[in-house]
Amino acid sequence: MANSMSGSLNHAMIDGPQGRAAQEYANRFGEPGFGDITKAYIGQNYAGYTEENQETWRILYDRQMEFLADNASRVYLDGAASIKLVRDYIPFLEGPKSVNTFLMPLTGWQSKAVPGYLPAKAFFACLARREFPTTIVIRPKQSIDYLPEPDIFHDIFGHVPLHADPVFADFLQTYGKAALTADDPHHTERLARLFWFTVEFGLIREGGRNRLYGSGLISSPGESKHALASPSVDRRPFDLETVCGTSFEIDHYQPILYVLDSFEQLRDAMNTYANRILEGKGSKAAA
Ligand SMILES: [Fe+2]
Repeated sequence: MANSMSGSLNHAMIDGPQGRAAQEYANRFGEPGFGDITKAYIGQNYAGYTEENQETWRILYDRQMEFLADNASRVYLDGAASIKLVRDYIPFLEGPKSVNTFLMPLTGWQSKAVPGYLPAKAFFACLARREFPTTIVIRPKQSIDYLPEPDIFHDIFGHVPLHADPVFADFLQTYGKAALTADDPHHTERLARLFWFTVEFGLIREGGRNRLYGSGLISSPGESKHALASPSVDRRPFDLETVCGTSFEIDHYQPILYVLDSFEQLRDAMNTYANRILEGKGSKAAA
């Protein structure tokens, strides 16, 4: 299929009536009558990918996987293998060789196609159900090195392998439940920082070395190398309170990164924080 707008995202994939209805629902999620987050999901419309889209996937996969083999967390690499991520084609979300088919028996997590940006409440509602809202379009080939918004390479290649790990899987669902429950700006801001410095830009210590696991690093050829090697990056030991108190900027390489000892450390810290949020809700006491 020819793409008349080769310089932009393949919007034919998401802009039909189904995509518009799903986006409208997501935007209103939480209002009376808009409580079923599954109505924000769409089909992948796999036939809509162009040959150039498939080629873009192969280039990105080849370029990044070689580097990651020696530099990503073992948990990420094992996850990518167990969901059978391959270079040859853009991943299927549904069907016999889809990431969801392989993920379901491991942790129960699923990737659900969405038409675009989800407001925070809708996003958290997905995570609380062990469902990951997934962008299905892929970046244009001419923007292969950098795209400011998520695409399927960021969302599937970057995020989903960790969802195959039972410890990370539990952490992410607990995060979603806590974030959905916390409706004051204080906790919302802290939780956004926690997501940023772990799920998006986290490092972990394995075998005496820092390794990558955050999707923003995993899916970025430039920043993945910078995060591990640049002397200008301040790599700090993970501590939940410190992370929640650290602000971030989005439009350049991260000057501060936090390093986990293990995913159990992250899960346990999240459980403690989630309990605090839930208790605070119960007693109306500010945390
Ligand atoms: Fe992300």
